Amino acid sequence: MNKKTAIVLGGTAPHIELVNKLKSRGYYTVLVDYLDNSPCVEYADKHVRESTLDTEKVCDIAKEERAELVISTCIDQANSVCCYAAEKLGLPKPYSYKTSLDVTDKGLMKKIMTDNDIPTSWYFVVKDTNEIDFGRIKYPAVVKPVDCNSSKGVHRADSKEEIVKYVKEAIDLSRTDSAIIEGFNSGEEIQVDCFANEADATVIMTRQKQKIAADNGMVLQSFGSIIPAPLNDELNIQAKEIADKIARAFGLSNTPFFYQAIVTDEGIRVLEFAPRIGGGLSYYLLNNIAGYDAVEAAIDSFEGIKAKIEPKEISGCYSTNLLYARPGVFDHISGLDELKANGDITEAFVMKKPGTEIDRDMRSSNRVGAFIVKADSYDELYEKAKKAYDSIEIYDTENKPMMNRSLYERNLK
Ligand SMILES: Nc1ncnc2c1ncn2[C@@H]1O[C@H](COP(=O)(O)OP(=O)(O)O)[C@@H](O)[C@H]1O
Ligand SMILES: [Mg+2]
Repeated sequence: MNKKTAIVLGGTAPHIELVNKLKSRGYYTVLVDYLDNSPCVEYADKHVRESTLDTEKVCDIAKEERAELVISTCIDQANSVCCYAAEKLGLPKPYSYKTSLDVTDKGLMKKIMTDNDIPTSWYFVVKDTNEIDFGRIKYPAVVKPVDCNSSKGVHRADSKEEIVKYVKEAIDLSRTDSAIIEGFNSGEEIQVDCFANEADATVIMTRQKQKIAADNGMVLQSFGSIIPAPLNDELNIQAKEIADKIARAFGLSNTPFFYQAIVTDEGIRVLEFAPRIGGGLSYYLLNNIAGYDAVEAAIDSFEGIKAKIEPKEISGCYSTNLLYARPGVFDHISGLDELKANGDITEAFVMKKPGTEIDRDMRSSNRVGAFIVKADSYDELYEKAKKAYDSIEIYDTENKPMMNRSLYERNLK
């Protein structure tokens, strides 16, 4: 057999598309994932049960398989392992291993942003509570571990006592025992998906989070997003300028990336960025709403081929709406097919298999589905989403309703 071989790190659902596209480019695909039941397993040609984060092991597998590519498109740490393996084995890569490390540490990332005039709040990093310089802190502040994700250990702090408490928690969660303390930004939260060209960046799509109101003004959870984000011309120009600066500051070229930011009264303030495609529905949204096939672009980027980026103008507006369940055992969602058949929603997603245990964790475990609505105006979007929510229900294995309606009822205007 003289097929090219690609090692795919991580069996997450968005990687199904990656595996399929690699296959159609003529690759034999080897999935590395220590879980037996991850969504990608049945799609890859071969499954090796090892941790995607074990750098040396991944290099060994790549050598053994005589791989020509080690790839991952939407998992931060796995991207870093890809870059490491590529440098060690002389394979093509999207950016250097050093760049991949700069972006998995929030302290390093903030330093590069600050040094390069990318608007972001003040910050400093500590490894112990007695290193906290209270004189530098302006309240409200935010405390987080420098190297976690999914909002783990992220808190707003309004007093000295809270700073100390949350710094301790963040240090415990951090792999490098480091916490970052930074200025709190007040406003709507946006995500900006971009592509780094040679000299600048293209903004592909903007979206604004639909907040689940937290008691302290932080958006640690959302029930979906609105596309495009309702930004005026000035803010759209700012969003593009920031994208250009990020691409330049981190030396990105020919690679997808996205950043998260808050639209404050003083303008856009960047929270963080990642040189990859987002997880969840990102791929679907970019492809279907903006006409940008991010996975093709990511493979080109990994292969070192210049990607062709021609996003289309987004017509109308869209919302993504997540369906949350209360704890229990998930069975099915009713109403989605009818809504889709009637054209009330444009697409529906069921994210869990029947029989999946749903716990209290608001991060992703209790998101069981989602739907997308299209409209001509933002007001119409809300109306349509509200109507759709009313005719959807989530059921457990005993056929009892388990949808967590309070979340969106509190928040949908
Ligand atoms: N400085 C800040 N000001 C306001 N909200 C913040 C700030 N930092 C984080 N947040 C909120 O917390 C969420 C998670 O923080 P983030 O830095 O993105 O960490 P993670 O890597 O876990 O996603 C953000 O999406 C945002 O809603
Ligand atoms: Mg984030």
